[in-house]
Amino acid sequence: MTSPGITWPRPAGPLELRLPTTEALDRVLVWRNRPEVTNWLIRTEVDPEAFRRTWLDGLADPDDHSAIAFLGDEVVGTVSLWRTDAMGQSHVPDGPWRNAQAGIGYTIDPAQAGRGYATAVAGALLALAFDDLGVHRVTAGCFADNIASWRVMEKLGMRREQHGVRDSWHAERGWIDGFTYAMLADEWRAQQR
Ligand SMILES: CC(C)(COP(=O)(O)OP(=O)(O)OC[C@H]1O[C@@H](n2cnc3c(N)ncnc32)[C@H](O)[C@@H]1OP(=O)(O)O)[C@@H](O)C(=O)NCCC(=O)NCCS
Repeated sequence: MTSPGITWPRPAGPLELRLPTTEALDRVLVWRNRPEVTNWLIRTEVDPEAFRRTWLDGLADPDDHSAIAFLGDEVVGTVSLWRTDAMGQSHVPDGPWRNAQAGIGYTIDPAQAGRGYATAVAGALLALAFDDLGVHRVTAGCFADNIASWRVMEKLGMRREQHGVRDSWHAERGWIDGFTYAMLADEWRAQQR
Protein backbone atom coordinates (compact mmCIF):
# COMPACT_ATOMS: atom_id res chain seq x y z
CA MET A 1 0.00 0.00 0.00
CA THR A 2 1.17 3.25 0.69
CA SER A 3 2.13 5.35 3.62
CA PRO A 4 0.57 8.76 4.20
CA GLY A 5 1.96 11.28 1.72
CA ILE A 6 2.92 8.67 -0.89
CA THR A 7 1.02 9.21 -4.10
CA TRP A 8 0.58 6.95 -7.10
CA PRO A 9 1.19 6.65 -9.97
CA ARG A 10 4.86 7.61 -9.81
CA PRO A 11 7.17 8.49 -12.71
CA ALA A 12 10.15 6.24 -13.45
CA GLY A 13 12.02 7.71 -16.43
CA PRO A 14 10.04 6.71 -19.52
CA LEU A 15 7.89 4.40 -17.38
CA GLU A 16 5.23 4.88 -14.75
CA LEU A 17 4.78 2.88 -11.55
CA ARG A 18 1.16 2.11 -10.70
CA LEU A 19 -0.40 0.18 -7.85
CA PRO A 20 -1.28 -3.42 -8.73
CA THR A 21 -4.67 -4.45 -10.06
CA THR A 22 -5.88 -7.95 -10.97
CA GLU A 23 -5.78 -6.98 -14.63
CA ALA A 24 -2.19 -5.70 -14.47
CA LEU A 25 -1.08 -8.77 -12.50
CA ASP A 26 -2.59 -11.04 -15.14
CA ARG A 27 -0.43 -9.26 -17.68
CA VAL A 28 2.65 -9.78 -15.50
CA LEU A 29 1.77 -13.48 -15.25
CA VAL A 30 2.16 -13.82 -19.04
CA TRP A 31 5.97 -13.67 -18.55
CA ARG A 32 6.58 -14.02 -14.79
CA ASN A 33 7.13 -17.80 -14.87
CA ARG A 34 9.39 -17.83 -17.94
CA PRO A 35 12.79 -19.46 -17.25
CA GLU A 36 14.71 -16.26 -18.16
CA VAL A 37 12.84 -14.54 -15.32
CA THR A 38 12.79 -17.30 -12.70
CA ASN A 39 16.43 -18.31 -13.25
CA TRP A 40 17.86 -15.73 -10.85
CA LEU A 41 14.91 -15.23 -8.52
CA ILE A 42 14.52 -16.67 -5.03
CA ARG A 43 10.75 -16.97 -5.40
CA THR A 44 10.96 -18.90 -8.65
CA GLU A 45 7.79 -20.19 -10.29
CA VAL A 46 4.65 -18.69 -8.80
CA ASP A 47 1.13 -20.05 -8.59
CA PRO A 48 -1.01 -17.43 -10.39
CA GLU A 49 -3.74 -17.30 -7.75
CA ALA A 50 -1.27 -17.05 -4.85
CA PHE A 51 0.72 -14.41 -6.78
CA ARG A 52 -2.37 -12.24 -7.33
CA ARG A 53 -3.41 -12.65 -3.69
CA THR A 54 0.02 -11.76 -2.30
CA TRP A 55 0.23 -8.62 -4.44
CA LEU A 56 -3.32 -7.49 -3.73
CA ASP A 57 -2.97 -8.22 0.01
CA GLY A 58 0.15 -6.05 -0.04
CA LEU A 59 -2.05 -3.06 -0.81
CA ALA A 60 -3.14 -3.12 2.83
CA ASP A 61 0.41 -3.29 4.21
CA PRO A 62 1.85 0.18 4.94
CA ASP A 63 5.41 -1.17 4.64
CA ASP A 64 4.90 -2.83 1.26
CA HIS A 65 5.35 -0.51 -1.72
CA SER A 66 5.13 -2.93 -4.61
CA ALA A 67 4.00 -1.66 -7.98
CA ILE A 68 3.66 -2.48 -11.66
CA ALA A 69 5.79 -0.70 -14.27
CA PHE A 70 3.98 0.55 -17.36
CA LEU A 71 5.25 1.95 -20.64
CA GLY A 72 2.13 3.74 -21.80
CA ASP A 73 -0.54 1.07 -21.42
CA GLU A 74 1.90 -1.82 -21.65
CA VAL A 75 3.01 -3.74 -18.54
CA VAL A 76 6.81 -4.08 -18.66
CA GLY A 77 7.86 -4.98 -15.12
CA THR A 78 7.30 -5.17 -11.40
CA VAL A 79 8.99 -3.46 -8.50
CA SER A 80 9.00 -4.22 -4.79
CA LEU A 81 10.03 -2.07 -1.88
CA TRP A 82 9.61 -3.27 1.68
CA ARG A 83 10.42 -1.09 4.66
CA THR A 84 11.98 -2.69 7.72
CA ASP A 85 13.75 -1.75 10.92
CA ALA A 86 17.51 -1.29 10.64
CA MET A 87 19.77 -2.96 13.17
CA GLY A 88 19.46 -0.95 16.39
CA GLN A 89 19.72 -1.23 20.13
CA SER A 90 16.51 -2.24 21.83
CA HIS A 91 16.85 -0.05 24.93
CA VAL A 92 15.93 2.89 22.66
CA PRO A 93 12.69 1.30 21.51
CA ASP A 94 11.66 4.00 19.08
CA GLY A 95 15.17 4.99 18.08
CA PRO A 96 16.21 6.11 14.61
CA TRP A 97 16.58 2.46 13.61
CA ARG A 98 12.79 1.98 13.49
CA ASN A 99 11.59 1.73 9.87
CA ALA A 100 15.00 3.04 8.79
CA GLN A 101 15.75 0.57 6.03
CA ALA A 102 14.17 -0.61 2.78
CA GLY A 103 14.86 -3.56 0.52
CA ILE A 104 14.18 -3.33 -3.20
CA GLY A 105 13.65 -5.80 -6.03
CA TYR A 106 12.59 -5.70 -9.68
CA THR A 107 11.65 -7.85 -12.66
CA ILE A 108 11.37 -6.81 -16.29
CA ASP A 109 9.50 -8.65 -19.04
CA PRO A 110 12.31 -10.47 -20.93
CA ALA A 111 10.94 -9.06 -24.20
CA GLN A 112 11.74 -5.59 -22.81
CA ALA A 113 15.18 -6.33 -21.29
CA GLY A 114 18.28 -4.29 -22.09
CA ARG A 115 16.49 -0.97 -22.57
CA GLY A 116 17.37 0.59 -19.23
CA TYR A 117 13.94 -0.09 -17.75
CA ALA A 118 15.20 -1.84 -14.60
CA THR A 119 17.55 1.07 -13.98
CA ALA A 120 14.67 3.51 -14.40
CA VAL A 121 12.34 1.69 -12.03
CA ALA A 122 15.01 0.95 -9.42
CA GLY A 123 15.96 4.63 -9.49
CA ALA A 124 12.33 5.51 -8.83
CA LEU A 125 12.38 3.11 -5.87
CA LEU A 126 15.44 4.86 -4.43
CA ALA A 127 13.62 8.20 -4.79
CA LEU A 128 10.56 6.75 -3.05
CA ALA A 129 12.64 5.27 -0.24
CA PHE A 130 14.87 8.27 0.44
CA ASP A 131 12.77 11.28 -0.59
CA ASP A 132 9.31 10.14 0.45
CA LEU A 133 9.71 7.44 3.09
CA GLY A 134 12.85 9.03 4.54
CA VAL A 135 14.74 5.80 5.18
CA HIS A 136 18.41 5.83 6.16
CA ARG A 137 19.55 2.94 3.95
CA VAL A 138 18.37 0.88 0.97
CA THR A 139 19.67 -2.61 0.22
CA ALA A 140 19.30 -5.07 -2.64
CA GLY A 141 20.62 -8.58 -3.04
CA CYS A 142 21.26 -10.88 -5.99
CA PHE A 143 23.14 -13.94 -7.11
CA ALA A 144 26.65 -12.82 -8.15
CA ASP A 145 26.13 -14.37 -11.60
CA ASN A 146 23.05 -12.19 -12.20
CA ILE A 147 25.19 -9.55 -13.88
CA ALA A 148 22.26 -7.57 -15.32
CA SER A 149 20.83 -7.15 -11.81
CA TRP A 150 24.00 -5.90 -10.14
CA ARG A 151 24.84 -3.70 -13.13
CA VAL A 152 21.54 -1.93 -12.43
CA MET A 153 22.56 -1.35 -8.81
CA GLU A 154 26.01 -0.08 -9.82
CA LYS A 155 24.57 2.24 -12.49
CA LEU A 156 22.46 3.79 -9.73
CA GLY A 157 25.50 4.33 -7.50
CA MET A 158 24.80 1.58 -4.98
CA ARG A 159 27.83 0.03 -3.26
CA ARG A 160 28.65 -3.67 -3.19
CA GLU A 161 28.86 -4.22 0.55
CA GLN A 162 28.88 -7.97 0.71
CA HIS A 163 30.28 -10.65 -1.52
CA GLY A 164 28.98 -13.78 0.15
CA VAL A 165 31.10 -16.76 -0.86
CA ARG A 166 28.81 -19.65 -1.79
CA ASP A 167 26.19 -18.25 0.57
CA SER A 168 23.27 -18.66 -1.85
CA TRP A 169 21.66 -21.85 -3.09
CA HIS A 170 20.53 -22.15 -6.70
CA ALA A 171 18.51 -25.19 -7.77
CA GLU A 172 20.65 -25.94 -10.87
CA ARG A 173 24.00 -24.51 -9.79
CA GLY A 174 24.09 -25.47 -6.11
CA TRP A 175 25.91 -23.17 -3.64
CA ILE A 176 27.01 -20.02 -5.47
CA ASP A 177 28.12 -16.52 -4.51
CA GLY A 178 25.72 -13.72 -3.63
CA PHE A 179 26.08 -9.93 -3.53
CA THR A 180 24.44 -7.34 -1.31
CA TYR A 181 24.38 -3.73 -2.47
CA ALA A 182 23.42 -0.69 -0.42
CA MET A 183 23.09 3.07 -0.49
CA LEU A 184 22.71 5.59 2.34
CA ALA A 185 20.38 8.59 2.32
CA ASP A 186 23.38 10.97 2.47
CA GLU A 187 24.86 9.34 -0.60
CA TRP A 188 21.57 9.59 -2.46
CA ARG A 189 21.28 13.30 -1.62
CA ALA A 190 24.89 13.99 -2.65
CA GLN A 191 24.26 12.24 -5.95
CA GLN A 192 21.12 14.31 -6.64
CA ARG A 193 23.00 17.64 -6.36
C1 LIG B 1 17.85 -8.16 -14.15
C2 LIG B 1 16.81 -7.36 -14.91
C3 LIG B 1 15.85 -6.72 -13.90
C4 LIG B 1 17.53 -6.29 -15.74
O1 LIG B 1 16.54 -5.53 -16.43
P1 LIG B 1 16.93 -4.58 -17.67
O2 LIG B 1 15.78 -3.68 -17.91
O3 LIG B 1 17.45 -5.39 -18.79
O4 LIG B 1 18.15 -3.74 -17.03
P2 LIG B 1 18.83 -2.42 -17.62
O5 LIG B 1 18.63 -2.41 -19.11
O6 LIG B 1 18.35 -1.25 -16.84
O7 LIG B 1 20.37 -2.63 -17.25
C5 LIG B 1 20.98 -3.88 -17.43
C6 LIG B 1 22.49 -3.69 -17.50
O8 LIG B 1 23.14 -4.96 -17.40
C7 LIG B 1 23.96 -5.16 -18.52
N1 LIG B 1 23.98 -6.60 -18.78
C8 LIG B 1 22.93 -7.42 -18.97
N2 LIG B 1 23.37 -8.68 -19.13
C9 LIG B 1 24.72 -8.64 -19.01
C10 LIG B 1 25.75 -9.60 -19.07
N3 LIG B 1 25.46 -10.89 -19.25
N4 LIG B 1 27.02 -9.20 -18.90
C11 LIG B 1 27.33 -7.91 -18.71
N5 LIG B 1 26.39 -6.93 -18.61
C12 LIG B 1 25.11 -7.31 -18.77
C13 LIG B 1 23.31 -4.35 -19.62
O9 LIG B 1 24.22 -4.10 -20.67
C14 LIG B 1 22.95 -3.10 -18.82
O10 LIG B 1 24.09 -2.32 -18.51
P3 LIG B 1 24.55 -1.05 -19.39
O11 LIG B 1 23.39 -0.09 -19.39
O12 LIG B 1 25.74 -0.55 -18.66
O13 LIG B 1 24.83 -1.57 -20.77
C15 LIG B 1 16.00 -8.27 -15.88
O14 LIG B 1 16.88 -8.94 -16.73
C16 LIG B 1 15.13 -9.28 -15.15
O15 LIG B 1 13.98 -9.01 -14.83
N6 LIG B 1 15.67 -10.48 -14.90
C17 LIG B 1 14.89 -11.54 -14.26
C18 LIG B 1 14.49 -11.19 -12.82
C19 LIG B 1 15.69 -10.77 -11.99
O16 LIG B 1 16.76 -11.35 -12.09
N7 LIG B 1 15.47 -9.75 -11.16
C20 LIG B 1 16.49 -9.26 -10.25
C21 LIG B 1 16.57 -10.17 -9.08
S1 LIG B 1 17.90 -9.72 -8.01
